[in-house]
Amino acid sequence: MTPVFSFDLSKNLRKTLNYIKTNDTLQYYGTRNIAEIGCFEGCSTHVLHKNFKDLPFFNKIYCIDPWDDDFHERGKPHFHINYHDQFDRFTKNIKNIRKDLVILPGKAEDILPKISPEIEFDFVYIDGDHFASSVYKNGKDAFSKLSENGYILFDDYLWGDYKNYPKLCPYEGIEQFIDEHKDSINIISKDFQVLIKKR
Ligand SMILES: C[S@@+](CC[C@H](N)C(=O)[O-])C[C@H]1O[C@@H](n2cnc3c(N)ncnc32)[C@H](O)[C@@H]1O
Repeated sequence: MTPVFSFDLSKNLRKTLNYIKTNDTLQYYGTRNIAEIGCFEGCSTHVLHKNFKDLPFFNKIYCIDPWDDDFHERGKPHFHINYHDQFDRFTKNIKNIRKDLVILPGKAEDILPKISPEIEFDFVYIDGDHFASSVYKNGKDAFSKLSENGYILFDDYLWGDYKNYPKLCPYEGIEQFIDEHKDSINIISKDFQVLIKKR
């Protein structure tokens, strides 16, 4: 069955993966485990899978999302047709790649710290809860499970009205993460997405 997505938000993700493939080939080829925070209907899951599945050490993509059907705007949950039954659509959309995924329903803040300490991630994509405090926490938790030279890609750095509503947008959370980790990361790119690499 062909996957069906309400929208494709993965243009920037594709661009970043191409950048890593081209400019950091050795690191790219060594990728084992990936974590995806905020999977929605599985569109970005498919992009990650397509780019990493054939690598020699590829193991799994850990998919983390509460899939609770809530859509938040300005901090308030409300009904949104695209978010309704999202887990059902995710499940159908990823059927043909299911064997390569570890599906972990729940909030990243709860799930990430419970993943076995033996699992290290080489690439983490953060596109979950957009509150600044959550993005910061996701980054911090992801960093503690990131391999040396591993990447974290934050989506939506410039998303939303972050100047007037800094607590409701990723911008401030990403800045806080960068500030606290500046001695142990390199910032590879900072645009609509932010790519950092662990030193
Ligand atoms: C913008 S969508 C992700 C889109 C997806 N990355 C793509 O490109 O197809 C945001 C997702 O984050 C999820 N989410 C919300 N709060 C979360 C949390 N605390 N932890 C993990 N995911 C969360 C929502 O359920 C939603 O599916």
